[in-house]
Amino acid sequence: MLNQTVKTLAGFVVSAGLFSGAAFAGGHGAQAEVLHWWTSGGEAAALKVLKDDFAKNGGEWKDMPVAGGGGDAAMQTLKARVVAGDPPTAAQIKGPSIQAWDDEGVVGPPYHVDEVAKAENWDSLLSSQVANHMKCDGFTKYCAAPVNIHRIDWFWANKKVLDANGISMPTSWDEFNAAARKLQSAGIIPLAHGSQPWQDATVFEAVALGIGGNDFYKKVFVDADMSAMSSPTMIKVFDQMRTLKGFTDEGSPGRDWNVATGMVMEGKAAFQIMGDWAKGEFTNAGMKPGIDFYCLPTPSDHGYLYNVDSFIFYSMDGQSKIKGQKLLGSLMMGKNFQKVFNLYKGSIPARLDVPMDEFDMCAKGSAADLNYSAMTGGLQPSFAHGMTLSLATKGAIQDVVTEHFNSNMSSKEAAKRMADAVQDTL
Ligand code: GAL
Repeated sequence: MLNQTVKTLAGFVVSAGLFSGAAFAGGHGAQAEVLHWWTSGGEAAALKVLKDDFAKNGGEWKDMPVAGGGGDAAMQTLKARVVAGDPPTAAQIKGPSIQAWDDEGVVGPPYHVDEVAKAENWDSLLSSQVANHMKCDGFTKYCAAPVNIHRIDWFWANKKVLDANGISMPTSWDEFNAAARKLQSAGIIPLAHGSQPWQDATVFEAVALGIGGNDFYKKVFVDADMSAMSSPTMIKVFDQMRTLKGFTDEGSPGRDWNVATGMVMEGKAAFQIMGDWAKGEFTNAGMKPGIDFYCLPTPSDHGYLYNVDSFIFYSMDGQSKIKGQKLLGSLMMGKNFQKVFNLYKGSIPARLDVPMDEFDMCAKGSAADLNYSAMTGGLQPSFAHGMTLSLATKGAIQDVVTEHFNSNMSSKEAAKRMADAVQDTL
């Protein structure tokens, strides 16, 4: 085996095996029921790459889509299935929920996908940070496979609308507020937003990272630190949320995220704050960054909110399903798959050795920023997308954020309620 040195997310140099990414042998007779929430245009186009690869390798795919951005609905369906003793062969899931399911005893042993991971040396293909998110049994065995790294803290904007109004991409929250006010007086909706709890939380975490800074973000969303939650900084974060609310339109409550992206694509609205799956919608419509739309991280001190999409493999009976799990794991970690899938999805590969030359400027920027922020303390897990905190704590924060956004609750009251609600979940 050839070896090469590559940099991990955390900036460490490790030895990486050079693999072709060929599928794990023995696809014939493989079956998989796959639970996911990828139902928008860009998401479906990306998922098709996996479906097609699975079929090409002799697998039989049973689709189990549960619509609903952010996956809250999918997680409820998944829970019902697992509790009923009938888990899907593979399920889209993220972060600490993977280990939480393992603690319930429904994932392994045996951890069948770990055999594939060992044979293909996944440890050498992933940063230790991403690899650990995929491991069960005290972080010793792979029980899930990663397909990408999404960044959350992005502004997306319609280039024509910005250019026509003499606005450049904002590099501070004050600049954004000023641009939004200018657009509003020109009759344009400044911020396309769908006020669903997970979308409010998505915007909230970008604002918290920007206004609070990296350490504040970590204290609140990684350490669940009570004093940070009810601090004056948190009150400022809620103040900015109130300002942003004023830039949304009346149709915002309940709107799906991809409909909001569509408003930016059509020029009805100028900006959207959303993870880079939004870029999957732009590219799926044939639009190009720098020509039709702009991408720029939301203002922060070189922060980067990451979100790794992955699939968990529960304990399964039946050789065809076990084969299905192994084949899926192998395909997901394939080098070419990670390139093609992510070109559609808007994200960047989780594998460290995928060349970025075919990716667009947004993805290249994301990869460079990720490395920089990993070295300087800005790389933080997304709370809104389940990469940190328990589901109960995440839910408690999300509920307060969305209640504040959709009412006249004061920022002070919201910060206090958040701390109280989180305390009850710890
Ligand atoms: C995220 C997920 C993305 C995208 C988005 C909208 O949580 O990581 O892949 O699907 O939700 O549904």
